[in-house]
Amino acid sequence: MTREKNVLVTGGAGYIGSHTIVQLVENGFNPIIADDFRNSDISVLKGLEQITGRKIVHYDLDVCNYIELKSIFKNHSIAGVIHFAADKAVGESVSNPLKYYKNNIGGLVNVLELCSEFEIENFVFSSSCTVYGEPKEEKEVSESTPLSKANSPYGNTKLVGEQILLDLHNSGARMNILSLRYFNPIGAHPSGLIGELPVGKPNNLLPYVTQTAIGKQNELTVFGKDYPTPDGTCIRDYIHVCDLAEAHVKAILLLQQKESNFIDQVNIGTGKGTSVLEIINSFERLTGEKLNWKFGPRREGDVVEIYANVSKSFELLNWKCKYTFEDAIEHAWSWEKNLAQHA
Ligand code: UFG
Repeated sequence: MTREKNVLVTGGAGYIGSHTIVQLVENGFNPIIADDFRNSDISVLKGLEQITGRKIVHYDLDVCNYIELKSIFKNHSIAGVIHFAADKAVGESVSNPLKYYKNNIGGLVNVLELCSEFEIENFVFSSSCTVYGEPKEEKEVSESTPLSKANSPYGNTKLVGEQILLDLHNSGARMNILSLRYFNPIGAHPSGLIGELPVGKPNNLLPYVTQTAIGKQNELTVFGKDYPTPDGTCIRDYIHVCDLAEAHVKAILLLQQKESNFIDQVNIGTGKGTSVLEIINSFERLTGEKLNWKFGPRREGDVVEIYANVSKSFELLNWKCKYTFEDAIEHAWSWEKNLAQHA
C-alpha cells in the first residue's frame, strides 16, 4: 500500500470513527486505528471486518501517551491523520473539567507534535457546532457566524482545539488542516453491524429513544416544552453518521490536493432543523413502536435552535448528504435491535 493511502484515525473505534473507517476502506484508503476503547467496545473491530472484508490495523493506546503513539508513526508511513479521540459528554465536562482538558487538549497537542516531527501533511480535526453557542438571530449558522464563548469545558476544548490549529498554521507549519464542525450525528451503518454504543445511560437523544423503545431505559424525558420554537422543543440538525463519515474522506482528498500550510473550517450538517418531538413522532411512525416519553424540565445549557448552512461543505468538499433523516432513524433502530439479539 502506498504512503498516500495510510490514514491514522485516532478514536477510530468510536461512533463516528468506526463509520469513517468503513468509508476510508471503501475509498481505497488504508486506515490505522489508535483507540484505547475507553468509550467503545473491542467488538467494533469484528463489525468493521465483516463490513470491509478485511482486518483493520489497530493500536490499543491512549493518544495522551506520547511514547506509545510515536510507535505508530515509526511503524507506518502516514499521509494523514483524522483526530477523533476525545471525551464528549457535556455534563461530565462541567463536573470534571480537567479530564476534558487533559484528554481533548493534551491528546490533540500530543498528536500534533508527532505530526510535526514526522512531517505529516494532512490533518482533520473533529470540531463541533458547539463553537457557535446559541445563535443570536439567524438559526442557520455559516462558517462566518461569529464563534461564541463556550458554555461547557467540552465546548471549550473544541474552541481551543480550533485555535491551537490556527496558531500552528500561523507559525508556518507545513501541514494542511481542516476542522469539521459536526452537527448532530445519528443512525448507524445500514448493515446493522456497527453503530452507536453509549457507555452507561445515553446522553444523546436518538440512542435514548432507541434504548427506551427496546426496553433498556424505562422512559424518555423530553427536556423542556416551552422553548420559542413551533412545537416548544429544541431544534437540531441531525445528520446520518455515514454521511458525516464520508465528509472525512472528502476532507483528506481535499487536503491532499493543497499546497502545504492550508487551513479551513467547515460545517458538516444537513441544513435542516428538526425538533425533539418531530424525532419522537418520526420514530413512532417509521418503526411502529410506541415510545414511553414525558416532558421534563429544560436541560441546563441546551441551545434552543441551530442548524447548518451547508453551502461551504458542498463547494469545498464536493460533498452532500445521501441519506435521509428517515434512513437514519431506521438504521439506528436496526442497530438497536441487532444489539438486543446478540446481548
Ligand atoms: N434531549 C431530550 N432528552 C434526552 C436527550 C436529549 O429531550 O434524553 C434533547 C436535548 O435537550 C436537545 C436534543 O434532544 O434538545 C438533542 O440533544 P443531544 O444531547 O442529542 O445533542 P446536543 O445537541 O445537545 O449535543 C450535541 C453533541 C455535543 C455537542 C452539542 C453542541 O452531543 O457533543 O451537540 O454542539 F456539544
